[in-house]
Amino acid sequence: MKHIGMGIIGPGFIAPHHIDAVRRLGFVNVIGIAGSSAASAQQKASAYGVDRSYGDYRELIADPDISVIHNTTPSYLHFSINLAILEAGKHVISDKPLAISAKEAAILRDAAAAAGVANAVTFNYRGNPLVQQARLMAERNDIGNIFFIHGVYLQDWMTDANVYSWRSDPAKGGPSSALADIGSHWCDLAQHVANARITSVLADLTTVVKTRYSAGGSAEAFSQKSNVQRTPVEVSGEDLASVLIRFDNGAKGCLSVGQVLPGHKNGLEIEFNGRSGSLRWNQERQNELWIGRHDQPNAVMGKDPSLMLPGAVGYAHLPAGHQEAWADAFRNVIGDVYQWVQTGEKPATVCTFADASRTCSVIEAMLKSYELGGVWQDVEEHAATIQNVEQQEVIYGK
Ligand SMILES: NC(=O)c1ccc[n+]([C@@H]2O[C@H](COP(=O)([O-])OP(=O)(O)OC[C@H]3O[C@@H](n4cnc5c(N)ncnc54)[C@H](O)[C@@H]3O)[C@@H](O)[C@H]2O)c1
Repeated sequence: MKHIGMGIIGPGFIAPHHIDAVRRLGFVNVIGIAGSSAASAQQKASAYGVDRSYGDYRELIADPDISVIHNTTPSYLHFSINLAILEAGKHVISDKPLAISAKEAAILRDAAAAAGVANAVTFNYRGNPLVQQARLMAERNDIGNIFFIHGVYLQDWMTDANVYSWRSDPAKGGPSSALADIGSHWCDLAQHVANARITSVLADLTTVVKTRYSAGGSAEAFSQKSNVQRTPVEVSGEDLASVLIRFDNGAKGCLSVGQVLPGHKNGLEIEFNGRSGSLRWNQERQNELWIGRHDQPNAVMGKDPSLMLPGAVGYAHLPAGHQEAWADAFRNVIGDVYQWVQTGEKPATVCTFADASRTCSVIEAMLKSYELGGVWQDVEEHAATIQNVEQQEVIYGK
């Protein structure tokens, strides 16, 4: 099998999981890492056993041995770096969200289509075996017409006011905090499993922790520094949100998202109610799929490749009773993108820049709904055309 050269830009918290995922595929060589400085890139390259390091991401993009580039930089850099990768005609795997504004995301969507390369955003929960089982059960009408999709994504890691990183800075994390960071995962999952699109939303947003205390310096998101002098920063992004949702298949929905909810670690739960049955999946019990029935006993399906639908079996790598987890799902998502790179055929499970651009529009509609006083807001996608000369120059050069 022909080996594929891969490079990664932005070696912080999530980057080693991308590296681990590609190494598990067996036919991808991790060629190089680009960081925010030559020294940090070199330190990370040596920690992950990677030969080449670059202090400037443009050097990595120009490396002829690299054909697939992963972008795991803070969200405000996704736009310029993803665009540069596409301009170079290389395959791109960006972490989420695709960009910090729907407009930027739409430009990336169009640039990806024009470049004709594999393009994907790592909404990794798509890669869970029982998520694919649920998607295929919904597709073959096992639960009838889905009329209600509801759930939560609750975390507590921002409960401490001393947690402050680029995520809380609107210039770097974007105007939305919890919704863009984790609400986007839930919205992607809802749309992917139900094969439906969110068309309008009504949102109520809250900033529970209004003042955070920055330790300055470190750009990395989950770094914990104690005994350092901290400066207060007023934050504007929501750390709690409740949203009513309408889907294009007529389904209604509701979602609560929060990152300051003590005791909740990575509590993503989603439930689909159809006319003949229900399906519920909880990320913290990801080897179980709850199947609800009105006229039969309810059931909990354990992850068991011998019982799963054929299209989902490939997402399970261990027999029943052996737990599979977050990193395994991540590997599955990355594997699907590399299948696209190898064959030129996009698997149905890949979240493309077009899909992720739409999710940026969904989040933007949630912000607008709240700003306008809590009214229904349609999800508006930015036009497929380049809107002004400046954008055209950015994408296609002068
Ligand atoms: N898929 C998921 O579940 C998931 C989980 C966590 C983070 N993410 C996403 O991954 C991205 C990164 O998040 P993180 O938590 O790893 O952040 P992080 O702050 O830990 O890491 C970002 C890294 O990028 C580096 N960097 C900054 N500017 C750079 C530049 N110009 N060139 C090269 N490197 C640069 C930083 O030094 C740091 O090492 C974010 O967009 C985030 O939303 C996704």
